[in-house]
Amino acid sequence: MAKIVITGGEVLNGEVQISGAKNAVLPILCATLLADAPISVGNVPHLHDVTTTMELLGALGAPLTVDEKLTITVDPTRTISTVAPYELVKTMRASILVLGPLLAKYGHAEVSLPGGCAIGSRPVDQHIRGLQALGAEVVVENGYVKARCDRLRGGRYSFEMVTVTGTENVLMAAVLARGTSVLENCAEEPEVVDLAHCLIAMGAKIEGAGTNRMVIEGVDRLSGGHYDVMPDRIETGTFLVAGAITGGRVLARRTRANILDGVLQKLEDAGAHINTGPDFIELDMGGRRPRAVNLTTAPYPGFPTDMQAQFAALNCVAEGVGVIKETIFENRFMHMNELMRLGADIHIDGHTAIIRGVETLTGAPIMATDLRASASLVLAGLVAKGETTVDRIYHIDRGYENIEEKLGGLGAKIRRVAA
Ligand code: UD1
Repeated sequence: MAKIVITGGEVLNGEVQISGAKNAVLPILCATLLADAPISVGNVPHLHDVTTTMELLGALGAPLTVDEKLTITVDPTRTISTVAPYELVKTMRASILVLGPLLAKYGHAEVSLPGGCAIGSRPVDQHIRGLQALGAEVVVENGYVKARCDRLRGGRYSFEMVTVTGTENVLMAAVLARGTSVLENCAEEPEVVDLAHCLIAMGAKIEGAGTNRMVIEGVDRLSGGHYDVMPDRIETGTFLVAGAITGGRVLARRTRANILDGVLQKLEDAGAHINTGPDFIELDMGGRRPRAVNLTTAPYPGFPTDMQAQFAALNCVAEGVGVIKETIFENRFMHMNELMRLGADIHIDGHTAIIRGVETLTGAPIMATDLRASASLVLAGLVAKGETTVDRIYHIDRGYENIEEKLGGLGAKIRRVAA
């Protein structure tokens, strides 16, 4: 198994190009199944989760091609299967996102239950209830969610909690339903908005994307076309934290500041100088040690749970004490134990982590446990004295494109080694 080896102590300085957003491209690729004509998706990041989604679409019979600029063209007109098998779903929870499109287009879908996940139990009851509100019959049998309908009809559903993929699944189903649907307590994440914009470009009628209430007027068919995926706000935030934790300067290009408000505020609280333009964010720490920050994760526009682990790493070497509260997932502190192996001073109390910054971390072999946790370990490795080896980095390849090349370009001493 490949590992990442980092020799800490370099102050990062330079520019990095941000890739397309993982959490936008996955639902958008699934949404292509709704179209009646080929559709191409641009600004696709080169990620393992994208490859898994392509395999899934291929398994459903939708031929796809990828060009050298990583534009994926899907031809959904020949879909031959409406069953998403366990072998593919188990490696990527987001596979559940084919449920809504297959059901809406073909009146039938069977998708394996995603099963356990390292960051806590992640049920799909809201996906199911939302589809039932549109007239689907849904049963869970033999480990599969099995859904059928004649044609979905417009309905009303208020999500019991804010769920990103739940909102996306029900939205993708509602666009082809007969009549008007009203969805309440929707996720407002920018990736939900990006999906809605893609659906609108295909001919869907959606109002209220980016608010907690969406009104969808169903249409009979959706067409093809082209859509470019938004920049990845979590990748952007991760590289900005890399600048902050090393006391350096990082200019993130091909990104947007208005999708990172909460994160930029915390970086300023940590002492960073932030400068933004239409498609860039520059962070300058001016050689200073960061100050500890307190944060509580919450649905957008609150502080993203996907940035929690990276700020935990920042707090480990910051001046003062930072308190981090995780409210979205029940088991999302696994990186804390690994950070402690580098010498971090962390006290965990339920869903709260109290981190007292230390002057120096020291390198050690550590293990990635999930996608964002692995990013935080790499960040800690950038400042730990000596060599840090991060094992099980397949987690990081699910969500970060060429992380070692991009960090290397900023001056980090980082390399990937085959096991
Ligand atoms: C998405 C993101 C993930 C991010 C998360 C929260 C994608 C592909 N993944 O995950 O990176 O960390 O949002 O911002 O976009 N829940 C239920 N029942 C449901 C659905 C969710 O109880 O039917 C709970 C979950 O257990 C969790 C909370 O709701 O506690 C939020 O989860 P959700 O927003 O659904 O996360 P994902 O969409 O899986």
